[in-house]
Amino acid sequence: MSRTVPTPGTQPSGGGLRTASWDEIRDLFALDRDSIHLNTGTVGAMPYEVLEVNDRVTREWTGGLMNVYPPAMYTEHRANIGRAFGVDEDEMVICHNATEGVARVIQGLDLKSGDEVVTTSHECYSVLSNFNLVRNRHGLTIRMVTPPSGPDVRAEEIVRLFEEQITPRTKVLAFAAITLFTGTMMPVRALCELAHRHGLITVIDGALIPGMLDCDLRAYGADFVSCSGSKFQCGPLGTGLLYVRNKVHPEHNPLPLPTFWPLISTWYPMIGAPPPRTTTSVESYNMGDYLQSAGSANIAKGAALARACELWDEIGRDRIEARVRELGEYARDRLVEHFGWDALYSPSSDPRLRSPLIAFNPFPAPEDAWNIKKFATFVDRLEQEHRIWIRWTEFDVPHSPHQHYAARLCTHLFNSHGEIDRAVTTMAALARELS
Ligand SMILES: Cc1ncc(COP(=O)(O)O)c(C=O)c1O
Repeated sequence: MSRTVPTPGTQPSGGGLRTASWDEIRDLFALDRDSIHLNTGTVGAMPYEVLEVNDRVTREWTGGLMNVYPPAMYTEHRANIGRAFGVDEDEMVICHNATEGVARVIQGLDLKSGDEVVTTSHECYSVLSNFNLVRNRHGLTIRMVTPPSGPDVRAEEIVRLFEEQITPRTKVLAFAAITLFTGTMMPVRALCELAHRHGLITVIDGALIPGMLDCDLRAYGADFVSCSGSKFQCGPLGTGLLYVRNKVHPEHNPLPLPTFWPLISTWYPMIGAPPPRTTTSVESYNMGDYLQSAGSANIAKGAALARACELWDEIGRDRIEARVRELGEYARDRLVEHFGWDALYSPSSDPRLRSPLIAFNPFPAPEDAWNIKKFATFVDRLEQEHRIWIRWTEFDVPHSPHQHYAARLCTHLFNSHGEIDRAVTTMAALARELS
């Protein structure tokens, strides 16, 4: 069925974005009409308007004599973005990406020799290499959970595995809200409550959350959540959001605020120390400012990310989450139809663990699960011959002597059921050819 092609980037008329059709919303994005983008977990597609803001603000600030430092605090943007995620401006930082955010958190924790961290082998390299650095530097112990994979994993099993690694020396629980390799939606609140029971600091890699989930970051109950701005939030590459708990709301997290050293700061006092951290719901100082103030900044990218967030608010984050999840479930059903239930690495029968990132083995021979060449060829040929963009991932599987490889697709608001049908049928034919 053909539809009228509007001018790229024009906003739908009538009731505005809240009631716009998904076809109209797709037209907001700088996406090639002939390609199928199922790899938002790596990088999203920017709306034309976001590109325009980036371009306009870059020009406005080029070669001028204006003071570049005040806008680098992003005060208004942080307040607006924070509101969309249930937090205040003093708890929100616009940073360069999820990697930078999590590195500043891990390096800023007050950890000493003998302390232990519990995390998983399914964390992004950005998390694992930073923890390894502090292990080498300060003599910590990192205790690693390898999350189970496969369609029948249950949330309780994951929480139990974390709990088994906690000892009296444990100080930190760190995990991805949604894992990069198998797209497991971690039982975030249950893990944070586990941390609360043991008095632990919680660090969440939330790279994949913003723009996908309509979430309240404070209600997760974590101390830190580091997010990407360029994935599901569809902001420019090189943008991220960092939530830092800066006051105590006992209903969400009853623990005192952890000692935290805001690394890379031109706001931290040059003499003396900041005031003691608050024990109440009123902040004693603006930790967000401490982290935000770090010299000159890419003002254009910050403004473009803020515009992407506004567009999401206009469309409705609840509506977007429902759409993304519905497309994800549609894709999961199509994958099961073509490849079978056991081909899934992503938890699927427990709805609490499902996300719209789905990892699967398209090849019938079990030993192909560790054949990197087949996976690389599969992904490359999908892109080059069919303009379908997914990725492969590699990860530890409990009791397996080898890492496993998987194909991973993810759905976003600009995808359609038709695209998913075409992508999965094409993948099935290609997998048959390569088997
Ligand atoms: C779960 C997860 N964490 C962290 C990252 C790194 O994100 P960024 O590129 O924003 O630093 C990624 C990137 O794919 C990711 O999927």
